[in-house]
Amino acid sequence: MSYLEATNDLYKEAALTPDVGLCCTTNPIWELPGLKIPKIMQEMNYGCGSTVHARDLANNPKMLYVGVGGGMELLQFSYFNRQKNGVMGVDVVDEMLEASRKNFKEAEAQNDWFKSEFVDLKKGDAMNLPVEDNSIDVAAQNCLFNIFKADDLKKAIAEMYRVLKPHGRLVMSDPTCEQPMNDELRNDDRLRALCLSGSLPIADYVKALTDAGFGTIEIRARKPYRILDPKHYPTDDLIYIESIEVAAIKDPMPADGPCIFTGKAAIYYGDDDYFDDKLGHVLLKNQPLAVCDKTAGALASLGRDDIFISKSTFHYDGGGCC
Ligand SMILES: C[S@@+](CC[C@H](N)C(=O)[O-])C[C@H]1O[C@@H](n2cnc3c(N)ncnc32)[C@H](O)[C@@H]1O
Repeated sequence: MSYLEATNDLYKEAALTPDVGLCCTTNPIWELPGLKIPKIMQEMNYGCGSTVHARDLANNPKMLYVGVGGGMELLQFSYFNRQKNGVMGVDVVDEMLEASRKNFKEAEAQNDWFKSEFVDLKKGDAMNLPVEDNSIDVAAQNCLFNIFKADDLKKAIAEMYRVLKPHGRLVMSDPTCEQPMNDELRNDDRLRALCLSGSLPIADYVKALTDAGFGTIEIRARKPYRILDPKHYPTDDLIYIESIEVAAIKDPMPADGPCIFTGKAAIYYGDDDYFDDKLGHVLLKNQPLAVCDKTAGALASLGRDDIFISKSTFHYDGGGCC
């Protein structure tokens, strides 16, 4: 059985018998006025972090969500969208599609603003999406891509890139890990499917996105996730896994390379009112400006004693250079 078949089996079981905390963290549930998340959706929260960010959702974007799980994030996206077929949900596991369909009925009973028809569920594979080219404004996946091995991850990212409109965004949350993992962990299909042993270092994760052509990357959050310890897992070392929230934007690739925001800021604290690098970045005195890593490097290389560049905070919430 391939690791993809093992993954499908695991999520078939998780659809038939909801398993709280099966694979991922129990992230705080979005609390919004008038939004009720049915208990069953909370029990089937198989994601880490959140892919639902209000600032991505202005102007009724056409949305796609791959790997629906119990449907909680699709309901949250629908909260902002509220249109027939406003959010397309794709999953390869029939039982998961069926379970989420039932959960949307329950959500409809608990939320007077929600109708099941807001969500358009489709059977399909992340590596071969049943979606037209250049048709989506906001695509999302939560805790699916980390399961994929390198070639499949490449295909899944290329598919998201294909279906997004120019400047559309892919919003994701996945576990990441900066430590090496041994082959026994890497090749354990169940641990991989449980989002425990497929995760990449952040730099490799980002490179997979920029290699696919995404010109802007935002790392929005980085959080502690899990421990793989020698007592419970086949590892000699204690392994610390984190999770990140990332947006990859289908902006054209800049000639000098991608703009990657890792939560750095530049602060000018000199004698003038502002500092202008004449390359499009104006630093107002004593006002932090969010900068991508490229701009941070360029400003640092000026060697000035009146510009401070912060380290990566891995918290980026918009604005700034580029
Ligand atoms: C870890 S769960 C995450 C579910 C949901 N995103 C959440 O946050 O609760 C992975 C989901 O991806 C689905 N899935 C697994 N392999 C897939 C594939 N190749 N293509 C599309 N969906 C897939 C599973 O059925 C399951 O719904």
